[in-house]
Amino acid sequence: MFKKKIETQINPEMMDNLDPNRIPHHIAIIMDGNGRWAQKRHLPRVAGHKQGMETVKKITKVASDLGVKVLTLYAFSTENWKRPDQEVNFLMDLPIKFFDKFVPELIENNVRVNVIGYIEQLPEKTQKAVLDAIDKTADNDGMVLNFALNYGSRAEMVTAMQKMATAVQNNELAVEAINEETVAEYLMTNSLAPYQDPELLIRTSGEERISNFLLWQIAYSELLFTDVYWPDYNGVELVRNIIAFQNRDRRFGGLKKENK
Ligand code: IPE
Ligand code: IPE
Ligand code: MG
Repeated sequence: MFKKKIETQINPEMMDNLDPNRIPHHIAIIMDGNGRWAQKRHLPRVAGHKQGMETVKKITKVASDLGVKVLTLYAFSTENWKRPDQEVNFLMDLPIKFFDKFVPELIENNVRVNVIGYIEQLPEKTQKAVLDAIDKTADNDGMVLNFALNYGSRAEMVTAMQKMATAVQNNELAVEAINEETVAEYLMTNSLAPYQDPELLIRTSGEERISNFLLWQIAYSELLFTDVYWPDYNGVELVRNIIAFQNRDRRFGGLKKENK
């Protein structure tokens, strides 16, 4: 009961340490540890994915309440096809289950769904669920819930380079005109403008690597690794991670304020 209370309201003392004016606009999360969470409980790995979906719902609500503009969740990487068919199939069905139940709540919370990744390679029924959710939430102007689905950062860059090369070939883009903004425009995250780059990247489960996620976009992101498995992650953890972010000294190659 008490735990539930913390879950929904976040402990007020903790909220005192959070600066509501410095909430990161864009938070990206590598949702990792579903399989280990399940194995620890002697459950099949997919039970972890199912529970992980519940965490997505909770975190979406808390992030939206905190005023986050974009929440990017890494749900399936271009490398995750290497997993056993049974697991891949389960993961491909998850968006269907998720959106089926959760879209009304997204609408209630004014959340808009967006996707980055090669969704045309997903099974028809998964594509349909995703496109329907995008469509149904298209008019919402609150937080953007951005799923990275069949996403890989290197593939994204290759596609961007191919598109840029084609534009050059067609005389639509001058080589000398290519700059950092142009590159950003050709990446999938252009759909998130002006919040393409996350200020904060969180990875759960204790792994400390990027696994082909937003390589260009995280150039100056604060990286935060937590040992909590994704199914155990919650609003309290998110607030704790944002407080840690607010205590970081972001210099962008310059100097601390007091040394200027
Ligand atoms: C993250 O959990 C979800 C996906 C990658 C789809 P994992 O399935 O990678 O869980 P672990 O890392 O094996 O525990
Ligand atoms: C990264 O997790 C991909 C997602 C969370 C969707 P993985 O579990 O696939 O990454 P590795 O294999 O541990 O690097
Ligand atoms: Mg993993």
